[in-house]
Amino acid sequence: MFPLLLLLLLQYVLQSAPATTFSNITDVDTLLAFKVSVAASSISRVTVLNLTLEGLAGTITPSIGNLTFLKILDLSQNNFHGEIPSSIGRLLRLQHLNLASNSLDSDVNADLKNCTSLESIDLDRNLLTGEIPAWLGGLSNLKTIKMYRNRFTGIIPPSITNLSALQTIDFTANQLKGVIPQDLGKMTSLSSIQLSENHLSGIIPAAFFNFPL
Ligand SMILES: *[C@@H]1O[C@H](CO)[C@@H](O)[C@H](O)[C@H]1NC(C)=O
Ligand SMILES: *[C@@H]1O[C@H](CO)[C@@H](O)[C@H](O)[C@H]1NC(C)=O
Ligand SMILES: *[C@@H]1O[C@H](CO)[C@@H](O)[C@H](O)[C@H]1NC(C)=O
Ligand SMILES: *[C@@H]1O[C@H](CO)[C@@H](O)[C@H](O)[C@H]1NC(C)=O
Ligand SMILES: *[C@@H]1O[C@H](CO)[C@@H](O)[C@H](O)[C@H]1NC(C)=O
Repeated sequence: MFPLLLLLLLQYVLQSAPATTFSNITDVDTLLAFKVSVAASSISRVTVLNLTLEGLAGTITPSIGNLTFLKILDLSQNNFHGEIPSSIGRLLRLQHLNLASNSLDSDVNADLKNCTSLESIDLDRNLLTGEIPAWLGGLSNLKTIKMYRNRFTGIIPPSITNLSALQTIDFTANQLKGVIPQDLGKMTSLSSIQLSENHLSGIIPAAFFNFPL
């Protein structure tokens, strides 16, 4: 019994040992080489960067703002910390920004107000601070705003009631104060609004109770 077990164990160890062990420097070198080959073809541009769940850490490089043809940027479910780089404000074609489930701990950089093509912004599960920016109300294509479980303070900006395409709001589990803007109840596009685990006061807009179930 014992020698068999040993044999199996040994076999397992041999199988799982990679032929060559590359260091993480190899990752960096490979990505840089990749960049050179992408740059060589000047015709097609990068429109999607999806690095969700890749175990990435560190800060988000400001160079991201040079991928000006991006429509989708998904860096969710990694371990990025620090700021949302202001250079993301250069991505005028960006439609979907997902930075959820990281450890970002800045405020929402005001340059993001330039991203007028944005349809969804998902910042759930970070350590973001400051107020929920009033300029969100100027991003008229927004359908989804998710800021669940962060450290946002201040009020729910009434400007978001101007977003006629807005379907989903999730501000759950922040430190928001003040009243719920009554005009939220007049937004016919809205199908999901989640505001619990905050310090909100006042009355729930009557129209909320008329939502179709
Ligand atoms: C690369 O790996 C080494 C050793 O595992 C680690 O100390 C270092 O922090 C890593 N570097 C990055 C940029 O992750
Ligand atoms: C990124 O890729 C994951 C896994 O393939 C997928 O579930 C996710 O929807 C993608 N993100 C976007 C914004 O398309
Ligand atoms: C963006 O691209 C320009 C031109 O190639 C370059 O000079 C600049 O350093 C880049 N910026 C970042 C933040 O990488
Ligand atoms: C955003 O727009 C403002 C006003 O047009 C401009 O000054 C700023 O440089 C832009 N930010 C970025 C990151 O492009
Ligand atoms: C909605 O937009 C109009 C026109 O841009 C503006 O005058 C108004 O102040 C906005 N409402 C809110 C609550 O921000």
